[in-house]
Amino acid sequence: MTKIVVFTGAGVSADSGISTFRDSDGLWANYRIEDVCTPEALVRNRAQVIEFYNIRRRELFSVEPNAAHRAIAELEQHFDVEVVTQNVDNLHERAGSTRVTHLHGELMKLRSERNPELIVPIEGWEQTLDARAEDGALLRPHIVFFGESVPMFDAATRIAASADVMIVVGTSLAVYPAASLVRYARAGVPVYVVDPGNPDVAMIRNPLTHIKARAAEGMPALAEKLINELK
Ligand code: OAD
Repeated sequence: MTKIVVFTGAGVSADSGISTFRDSDGLWANYRIEDVCTPEALVRNRAQVIEFYNIRRRELFSVEPNAAHRAIAELEQHFDVEVVTQNVDNLHERAGSTRVTHLHGELMKLRSERNPELIVPIEGWEQTLDARAEDGALLRPHIVFFGESVPMFDAATRIAASADVMIVVGTSLAVYPAASLVRYARAGVPVYVVDPGNPDVAMIRNPLTHIKARAAEGMPALAEKLINELK
């Protein structure tokens, strides 16, 4: 069965109403990374970091998966599919994707500040400042901050290397090591990029098709094409 690996970024959720990071109206235009997304910020300014992720989590309860998430989930009816996402939202899972690897963590989980393996789900949107893990340590968002290692990266490279077709949706390909996943596709494997902007596709050495469309338009059309051509 043809193996399709779908690698997604913030743009796949943009059509659900979630802000991207680096577009002109993106999150990093309104927040400084060093204030909300570094281990130092968590020490120096715990309240602001937790508030930032509480806002992101609250937003998640008010949005729905879009046609791109649904088209990606639907591919599982026809192909062997794995999703690797940089997103911390849960919209792929809510659309029905069953194999999703989160490179940068998950909003709906917290973890112990002492033991990174002690990961717990959070029910609602709000992490209180004094919430503690079972080991007594304070809980922190289960997010990979800038400057931290990406524990799921090795697993993701193996997934990328297993692709017969790679689809890249809505990522600027600006953040490493995540962006380098596209280099793990085997030689000759076709790579489709769905993005209305100008992601850094120069680093992709494989046969490349850039579909310059919003995810909610381009992804269903691409899914239909692949189903017709490869099924
Ligand atoms: P970026 O904000 O860097 O890039 C978003 C991409 O989505 C751009 O290429 C846009 O052109 C594209 N885009 C915008 N609207 C779109 C739409 N409607 N449909 C499809 N594409 C659209 O986001 P990421 O590449 O995901 O990390 O950023 C990577 C990482 O940087 C994130 O995981 C996050 C961030 O800092 C952490 O927080 C650790």
